[in-house]
Amino acid sequence: MIKEDEYKERRDTLVSKMSKNSIAVIFSNSYKTRSNDTEYPYRQNSNFYYMTGFKEDNATLVLIKKNKNYKSILFVNKKDKVDELWNGKRLGAKEAKKRFLVDQVYTDDKFEEKYKEYISAKKSLYFDFDLTFSKADLLKKHSRNISNYKNIAPIIQKMRLVKSDSEIKLIKKAINITKDAHLRAMKFKKQDRFEYELLAEIEHSFKSQGAYSDAYTSIIAGGNNANTLHYIENNKPFKNNDLILIDAGCEYEHYASDITRTIPVSGKFTEEQKEVYNLVLDTQLKVLEAIKPGVKRTKLQKIAVKCLTESLVELGILKGDIKKLIKKEKYKPYYPHGIGHWMGIDVHDQCPYKDENGKEIVLAKGMVLTIEPGLYLDIDDKKVPQKYRGIGIRIEDDILLTDDGYENLSADIIKTVEDIESIN
Ligand code: GLY
Ligand code: MN
Ligand code: MN
Repeated sequence: MIKEDEYKERRDTLVSKMSKNSIAVIFSNSYKTRSNDTEYPYRQNSNFYYMTGFKEDNATLVLIKKNKNYKSILFVNKKDKVDELWNGKRLGAKEAKKRFLVDQVYTDDKFEEKYKEYISAKKSLYFDFDLTFSKADLLKKHSRNISNYKNIAPIIQKMRLVKSDSEIKLIKKAINITKDAHLRAMKFKKQDRFEYELLAEIEHSFKSQGAYSDAYTSIIAGGNNANTLHYIENNKPFKNNDLILIDAGCEYEHYASDITRTIPVSGKFTEEQKEVYNLVLDTQLKVLEAIKPGVKRTKLQKIAVKCLTESLVELGILKGDIKKLIKKEKYKPYYPHGIGHWMGIDVHDQCPYKDENGKEIVLAKGMVLTIEPGLYLDIDDKKVPQKYRGIGIRIEDDILLTDDGYENLSADIIKTVEDIESIN
């Protein structure tokens, strides 16, 4: 759990970054239609959540800065007996005032009237420029005095880069639940089953431990399906001698985990699968060795590219001088993605990769990122020796930067050939 005073500290920090005589308006997400009158399960806007910890829709946070002081106002859904009968209880303004460390709480129907009042003497307005819904129009309609529109999203996203202890606890909890799901998948008898049956095992594991949402749509890719990077159909039967790439991570209290393991249907790797698998694993271990504060993410990608290019030569897929192959990006069809990404409230946490001057952000204590090298050898690729065609492998772990190195938060999810083969 993240305490209310931590959310207040975040708002204090945000306001300290705003210009004098300015106002910030941060909206919750709206419901999104899935079909006709049914909606997707609601998920709070990540920046709004980071600033409030509030999970309801139709809410707005307003921060009004005067010199060094500021006033915080939260607008929340009005209590409504009929709507609550259909859609569940709402906190309401009275309870919200008790819970949140804000100066004032109003119901949402007061927003327009109050906003007109707040904005009248202000010079700068901060809001999320990506907003497309009607409230953004409302802001513009009533903001004629404003000489300066500023995007609030990058400021909050920069704050989200370094995780607090309480955030790290939630990420660890998410990873721990995901660990059980992957171990369950490894133990499950997969012969003559379908990808969705394995998905059901994973989802059972997530949901039965209180992680009622995935952090992203799971990928359960048997055999050559692993060579479609975003394979989410998850509806084909497994073949006995194939591998399965499982990229699945739960979300817990709005914090993500993101783990990939590649395991054999039968429980045993073939010689060729083992060969490719160990090349990917060795790459991952080499990248991990280089992780510590002060290092750049692009350096990690360079290590991965070098190791994987060497691997492709070793497998007889590429030929020639390693440096030239790298320069010509010959590895790209077989390793088309990056080495990893920030992870937090979003699985691909929307934190910056470059600072205000366009310089790459270096790794620092408290940052969390994934490390996920892979090799994808498509079944129809004639440049790949026949025996390796159809093999697709990724190994992905979640890494926390520490004082002088890193902690692999998913180290307990086994990944050596020996360990995977012995779990059955
Ligand atoms: N599961 C999404 C990713 O690995 O980036
Ligand atoms: Mn990832
Ligand atoms: Mn992933």
